[in-house]
Amino acid sequence: MNVAVSNEQVSDLIVSVSPLSLSTSITEVANLFLSDTHRELLCLPVVEQEHVVGTISRYAVMRIFLKPFGREIYGPRSVEQWMNKTPLLIDEHTDIDTASHYVHQHITNPITEDFVITRNAKYRGMGMVLSLLELLGQRAARRNQTLMVVNRNLKSSQTRLIQSEKMASLGQMVAGVAHEINTPLGYVSSNVELVRGFAQQIQAAVVVSHELVTALQEGVVDDSTLGDLIQTTNEQTQMILRDGMLDDLDTLFNDTFHGLEQISELVVSLRNFSRTDHANFVSVNINESIESALTIGRNILKQKAEIERVFADGVMVECVPSQINQVLLNVLTNAAQAIPNFGVIKITTRSHKNFVDIHIRDNGCGMPESVRKKIFDPFFTTKKVGEGTGLGLSISYQIIQQHNGLIEVKSIEGKGTEFVIRLPRKRVVNTESLTNN
Ligand SMILES: Nc1ncnc2c1ncn2[C@@H]1O[C@H](COP(=O)(O)OP(=O)(O)OP(=O)(O)O)[C@@H](O)[C@H]1O
Ligand SMILES: [Mg+2]
Repeated sequence: MNVAVSNEQVSDLIVSVSPLSLSTSITEVANLFLSDTHRELLCLPVVEQEHVVGTISRYAVMRIFLKPFGREIYGPRSVEQWMNKTPLLIDEHTDIDTASHYVHQHITNPITEDFVITRNAKYRGMGMVLSLLELLGQRAARRNQTLMVVNRNLKSSQTRLIQSEKMASLGQMVAGVAHEINTPLGYVSSNVELVRGFAQQIQAAVVVSHELVTALQEGVVDDSTLGDLIQTTNEQTQMILRDGMLDDLDTLFNDTFHGLEQISELVVSLRNFSRTDHANFVSVNINESIESALTIGRNILKQKAEIERVFADGVMVECVPSQINQVLLNVLTNAAQAIPNFGVIKITTRSHKNFVDIHIRDNGCGMPESVRKKIFDPFFTTKKVGEGTGLGLSISYQIIQQHNGLIEVKSIEGKGTEFVIRLPRKRVVNTESLTNN
């Protein structure tokens, strides 16, 4: 939306006043100033053949009359001697801004003077400085109003943008997790399929063994049938033993349980990650938050870096866990994205009396000072269109600020980058205490 600039002109301010002539006397001017019709005017125009030759002000007349015998001596004389011969003249088509600028620059007696409005250099009427000011005031109020609306719209579209960025990163994250779940799910399914095949063979062996046992117990079958039964039972069990099916079953079950554990670990992390604890500060172990972010980001991270953990004990902080997880995932994802081939991401946690520090260091491309200065600005990105929105770190910065924490970065171009996130242990802390180790 544009801030509306009205095109009000000086013609909107015209006050029709019959002009004086050079022969008008001071007494006549004084009488006019006293009349109701001229009560609000500060000065009157003196016009000869439609051209303005001067103005005489109420103040000038007062000064004349204050002189000893002023009224008697000067009253009958012409205005010419007392008038301002260089009054402010403004064309009626001048816009209000230019006019106010002109008045501001050229007015010599601000409290006692008005200006004359002309058309093609001919007298048109009077303009009052006070009305000009009033009009400017009204315009300023209107502009303010418009600016407030613009500001509100801007804020709401910013919120929408942040929301859609969150949705996009949620989509990405869900796709990553789905991919992670897919691998164990794949081998759990094929294991179950194999077990089903084994179970069918074992079932067949059990059925024939049962028939043999029944025949032996009841002793009613002939020798040839008994021989067949013994042979089939033998074949079936031999096959099971020869193919190592029982040992395989053990391994298959172990693998399957491992896969199921991986799936449930991912589900737990996902649940921890997106805990609906908006604005709810709870006490969490930062090492666990890091693990949770690492699990969620595993799909991207495992392709780009080996993760090195140097975790301290006792790193409990009061925070909104889902928000802190979001920050950790943003910083870890950036680190992975900064590594060209395969590198190392080292995560260190340190425990201090009033706060906990998290260092996330990568040996990726690093950044020059010109980039480093801007990374927390919304929409700043060096990634290709469609690859990054440039909101990750600005959102992270806001989250850390809301936690009364600090987020800082050191980087050497070509060598790597280290982010340090400092979080107070208790929800309400004096930020100053964070800067003193
Ligand atoms: N570890 C890092 N190494 C090098 N550059 C980094 C690192 N982390 C961030 N940056 C720089 O900071 C910029 C801004 O990061 P930010 O996370 O805000 O946005 P993005 O990663 O570009 O996009 P998005 O996070 O929305 O996908 C990045 O484009 C990159 O240039
Ligand atoms: Mg990012």
